[in-house]
Amino acid sequence: MNIVEVKNLRKWFKVKRILGKSVTIKAVDGISFNINKGEVFVLAGESGSGKSTTARLILNAIKPDEGSIIFDGNDVTKLNGKELKRFRREAQMIHQDPYASLDPRMKIMDIVREPLSIHEKKNKKEEEEEVLKVLEEVKLEPAEEIATRYPHMLSGGQRQRVAIARALILRPKFIIADEPVSMLDISVRGEILDLLRDLQMRYNMTYLYITHDLSTARYVGNEIAIMYKGKIVEMGDIDKVLLNPLHPYTKALIEAISEPDPENLYREKNILINKSIIELNDYGCKFYQRCMHAMDRCKREPNLVEIEDKHSVACFLYS
Ligand SMILES: Nc1ncnc2c1ncn2[C@@H]1O[C@H](COP(=O)(O)OP(=O)(O)OP(=O)(O)O)[C@@H](O)[C@H]1O
Ligand SMILES: [Mg+2]
Repeated sequence: MNIVEVKNLRKWFKVKRILGKSVTIKAVDGISFNINKGEVFVLAGESGSGKSTTARLILNAIKPDEGSIIFDGNDVTKLNGKELKRFRREAQMIHQDPYASLDPRMKIMDIVREPLSIHEKKNKKEEEEEVLKVLEEVKLEPAEEIATRYPHMLSGGQRQRVAIARALILRPKFIIADEPVSMLDISVRGEILDLLRDLQMRYNMTYLYITHDLSTARYVGNEIAIMYKGKIVEMGDIDKVLLNPLHPYTKALIEAISEPDPENLYREKNILINKSIIELNDYGCKFYQRCMHAMDRCKREPNLVEIEDKHSVACFLYS
């Protein structure tokens, strides 16, 4: 069963450049995907591919130009009043930067309690008990002591645990984790991923996990969509996509994992010629200029086509 259904979602930004010319950035350019209840759906792709914009659209933080987002049967963009408030409670976000996302003037107790105060009318004692319980669940112990501290008194990993506790306290059905470990020390990344996975399984939550790091993606995910310049170029069961990648862009990403110097690899293989290349192919495959297999027909737009069960690709090499 799907808990999230994204259909033909589009968001373009008009940006004024220094000389007064405005350009259109097609941040999200007509994407569709479904997220199964109780599963982890990974959205992967390099910087600027539209991952965070997709997250903000799903959470109703910004409005789409086109398309729909169905959450638990309701169109997110049409919610208001009570329904919107319930959605704000059921869908939570964990951000990349545990330094920026916590108010430095508030104690951990109040940071974690805040969503509870907004959404539930409990007495202070009950709220505090709830906070201590959730701090223990994210392994911030001793909870009574941690609760009295300010964010600057904690490590990066501990702060991210606070952010997770804050998201968890409302017992959401759905969590979007946008690069939740990329700003943390490598040594604590595994612990935080383990924690997220444990919580997800314990509460049968659904995650949208955003990352540009494919090596951790397989560790947490069930399904994956690879984004490139606002489009999904490949999607499906995570083992199928990562063990048998079809799109030249997915292949390049995967090869880059095992390479100590990915930038260099791109250059050698001629996959990345020039990062600043302008969009000549506004209508065709977005990967055209970087692709070693580019053909004439790639100047038209390839559709996402199912190649095998639970594995789709948008590339003319396969259709
Ligand atoms: N509010 C905005 N106004 C103008 N352009 C925007 C806005 N938000 C995002 N963009 C642009 O849209 C594109 C996609 O941005 P987005 O943040 O979704 O990418 P991302 O995949 O999350 O990248 P990263 O991995 O760096 O976080 C980028 O070119 C970005 O500059
Ligand atoms: Mg982002």
